[in-house]
Amino acid sequence: MELLTPRLILREFRESDFAIFRELEAYPETYRFESAHPDDAQIRAYLKKAQSDGLQTPRSRYRLALTICPVDDVRGRVTLALMNDSIHEWEIGWAIHPAEWGKGFAVEAAHRLLDFAFTDLGAHRVVAFSHAQNTASLRVMQKLGMQQDGLLRETRPWRGAWSDEVVFSILEREWLVFQAGGRL
Ligand SMILES: CC(C)(COP(=O)(O)OP(=O)(O)OC[C@H]1O[C@@H](n2cnc3c(N)ncnc32)[C@H](O)[C@@H]1OP(=O)(O)O)[C@@H](O)C(=O)NCCC(=O)NCCS
Repeated sequence: MELLTPRLILREFRESDFAIFRELEAYPETYRFESAHPDDAQIRAYLKKAQSDGLQTPRSRYRLALTICPVDDVRGRVTLALMNDSIHEWEIGWAIHPAEWGKGFAVEAAHRLLDFAFTDLGAHRVVAFSHAQNTASLRVMQKLGMQQDGLLRETRPWRGAWSDEVVFSILEREWLVFQAGGRL
């Protein structure tokens, strides 16, 4: 599967992406708000799982490589995963290569993924979770028209202590208004 935006291609991962994907995963910035970095075995396992996602029917997870046109190298990853089938709820996530931060790529990619979730997957709501201090990720959520559902207290082990996490969401009816340029 491929999703296109004006500047990006969101495509399936390939085994040959390992070296360049590993470089992205190795940056301290990429995992600044996580408790641990993945090792090589975990990165390989991620790639394998990402490739097998597409074999599921119906598919409940999309782990896609983000590439910047016209280069095919992985410069980020985005995910969409079914959280709660009974309420058609999907979870979205993102990470961009630190050299590409601040260029609007996370918002551009996530905007396309939200459109895919609501238009093609029949999502009712899409949620995103973030470390409460991850201001860049919080800003991405806000720029997508997502609203804060709540704050989960001390759900994340981080730097030897517990950190809070925020939950943002957007409903299908809100998305329709937002992407049409209206006010929520
Ligand atoms: C979060 C992340 C994906 C944002 O990627 P990005 O491509 O730089 O985001 P965009 O360029 O689309 O920027 C979106 C907004 O965030 C703002 N932003 C970016 N970095 C920021 C920072 N460190 N602090 C505050 N705002 C920031 C941008 O300025 C922009 O807002 P604006 O248009 O009002 O100025 C990127 O920082 C990243 O990969 N972080 C590591 C992985 C991660 O934390 N993933 C999320 C896990 S929940």
